[in-house]
Amino acid sequence: MKYPIRRVLVTGAASGIGRAVAAAFVAEGAQVLGWDLSTDDAAQGVAMHAVDIRDRASVQAAAASLERLDVLVNCAGIARRGHAAQLSEADWRAVIDTNLSGTFFCCQAAFAALAASGDGLIINLASFVAQRSGPGRASYAASKAGVLALTEVLALDFAEHGIRALAVSPGYTRTAMVERALAAGRLDEQRLLAKIPLGRLARPEEIAGAIVALAGPAFKYANGSDFVLDGGTMANGVE
Ligand SMILES: NC(=O)c1ccc[n+]([C@@H]2O[C@H](COP(=O)([O-])OP(=O)(O)OC[C@H]3O[C@@H](n4cnc5c(N)ncnc54)[C@H](O)[C@@H]3O)[C@@H](O)[C@H]2O)c1
Repeated sequence: MKYPIRRVLVTGAASGIGRAVAAAFVAEGAQVLGWDLSTDDAAQGVAMHAVDIRDRASVQAAAASLERLDVLVNCAGIARRGHAAQLSEADWRAVIDTNLSGTFFCCQAAFAALAASGDGLIINLASFVAQRSGPGRASYAASKAGVLALTEVLALDFAEHGIRALAVSPGYTRTAMVERALAAGRLDEQRLLAKIPLGRLARPEEIAGAIVALAGPAFKYANGSDFVLDGGTMANGVE
């Protein structure tokens, strides 16, 4: 083990960024617990549990067995697209319930175990879309802006309990979420690439590597901050 991260919980650990984060912490020698809707596709060495983060009672029940937790990484999330005038209530609520309420329920439920660590850390997956949105993203952009605001409040409320809170905002990352949108024509790869100065999507492992680094000794004074990993997309405002 390169540094003493001992117990890590990753939500959304069955796919994409969450799966890569869980695998990266296993590679660091951590004990990694994963929560997801399904436990089918766990990375090797991750203890998976089926938890629906939208269900506060289930989240609290699952967290009750955690005696101590050093790092909570909230990766579980969904996206829905739709023009703001027509977006269904179901699509609005699904995204807010998962990305914002679900993230909050996990942070709240893990509070006691993170406090027991004495050096607890929460990392919430936001998105560059929280600050630079696009058409048809009402629920997703609002949920991720909410995650940024929530992270700041957690950084204040939890600091006296030895718990810090950070956000990570990836740009487009090649995961199942993005592959589904590309396949369905909701995203156009050439148009995406034209906006990304690095000329490619991120790999889940790159986001995971940054998250492991943020949980390490070099970032102990970081609290309440958002770390943007978008290949320069947010800087790319003028044609
Ligand atoms: N992929 C991107 O381009 C990108 C960019 C910025 C931010 N993000 C954010 O990163 C996070 C991970 O995204 P991803 O691309 O890896 O997506 P993904 O679809 O590959 O994985 C998301 C995981 O979350 C799980 N999940 C969804 N709802 C859940 C629930 N109610 N309870 C428990 N688990 C649930 C899914 O089952 C899935 O395994 C999300 O919060 C997403 O918004 C992704």
